[in-house]
Amino acid sequence: MTTIAIVYHSGYGHTAVVAQAVAEGVTRAGATPKLLKIENAAQDFAPLLEEASKADGIIFGTPVYMGDVSAALKAFFEASSKIWYTQGWAGKVAAGFANGLTAAGNKDNALGSIFVLAMQQGMIWVGTGLMPGNMEGNSKAAPEAMNRLSYSIGVGTQSDNAGPDVTPPSGDKDTARHLGERVAKIAAKLSA
Ligand SMILES: Cc1cc2nc3c(=O)[nH]c(=O)nc-3n(C[C@H](O)[C@H](O)[C@H](O)COP(=O)(O)O)c2cc1C
Repeated sequence: MTTIAIVYHSGYGHTAVVAQAVAEGVTRAGATPKLLKIENAAQDFAPLLEEASKADGIIFGTPVYMGDVSAALKAFFEASSKIWYTQGWAGKVAAGFANGLTAAGNKDNALGSIFVLAMQQGMIWVGTGLMPGNMEGNSKAAPEAMNRLSYSIGVGTQSDNAGPDVTPPSGDKDTARHLGERVAKIAAKLSA
């Protein structure tokens, strides 16, 4: 059975909602999701690293804080240097998602940081594989549109200044489900 770890931080609960949607997508593909929540930058990361190491693929998720991944996810990345020494994650599938307050908000930079970590670890990167959600060009994509914010390196989602029970919108969660499903299917193919 293919297992996909979803390693994420969420200070205020919005990125956690996206992580949950990614997990639903993994399940939809017939694989097992393992949600691994980072609590803070000072915690002991050994148990999370151990769990992630057992998975066939790892999807990393972050809120965008000051244009980049949160300090807590960055601390996890640094703790993973022990695994880098032995290239313990090499060949595993990797992907990322980033949630911010604004439509852009430098999400590409946060996704880029996740991408670099995955490349240092010798992982196999999987993007969204989606066309932009706003192909008409002149109008905003609807809240229920897939990939409405038009990210390709990973999933970009947006939370308004409201609780995680109402935001991000359904299209963003569908896009997150798509990523989970896509990563799980590719990981299953690679391990076949
Ligand atoms: C310290 C801090 C810095 C932030 N910087 C950004 C930013 O650069 N870009 C952005 O779009 N949103 C930014 N935000 C907004 C958060 O990304 C947004 O509220 C998000 O929903 C938080 O996710 P969470 O609830 O999982 O923590 C920032 C929030 C905080 C607390």
